Amino acid sequence: MKILEQRIKKDGRVLGKDVLKVDSFLNHQVDPELMQAMGEEFATIFSDEKIDKIVTVESSGIAPAVFAGLALHVPVVFARKNKSLTLPENVWTADVYSFTKQTTNHIMIDHRFLSAAENILIIDDFLANGQAVEGLLKIANDANVNVVGVGVVIEKTFQKGRQILDERGVRVESLARIKGFENDEVIFL
Ligand code: G4P
Repeated sequence: MKILEQRIKKDGRVLGKDVLKVDSFLNHQVDPELMQAMGEEFATIFSDEKIDKIVTVESSGIAPAVFAGLALHVPVVFARKNKSLTLPENVWTADVYSFTKQTTNHIMIDHRFLSAAENILIIDDFLANGQAVEGLLKIANDANVNVVGVGVVIEKTFQKGRQILDERGVRVESLARIKGFENDEVIFL
């Protein structure tokens, strides 16, 4: 998606050898017009699929997911990160290890917000190591819902997330695909 790539070039900052900081429009401050355009793009890309609901993980997945939900006219559910030690009842859960932050998050979705045989589209901000999406796939499997695909804002093709999802036969569509960084410049695929 051209306007997203331009924005990444203009405002993205490369940290270390594999992290792209995009907190001025996606991860901290949010640009609603860009989010709206991205939501419409996801709706166009997945227009051949029957989608009943969008599912994401808090917090940075929520903005793109809500705009995709707006464009597709479907509700959006975000998995919550559970910080307390006691697990609430009637929730689907998964453990998600973050390589970037080196912590494990327990994510959960209330049984009321996923019904068996629903068709869901997973949306997330980054596809890096694929751990967040894998957690959502586990929840989808436990809840007996059908995953029509995964929509990602920024995919880092040099990390293993794409390969994991390809091997599982999951349709993955990304709005920007980054193959690497050179001298702090972002190189798109
Ligand atoms: P995953 O996202 O594919 O699971 O890979 P990984 O375990 O590496 O990512 C852990 C967290 O770091 C995720 O956020 C993910 O979105 C974020 N992340 C991964 N690579 C990048 C990057 O290059 N830049 C930025 N800005 N974030 C990256 P999270 O823990 O779910 O946090 P949040 O959604 O609450 O922000």
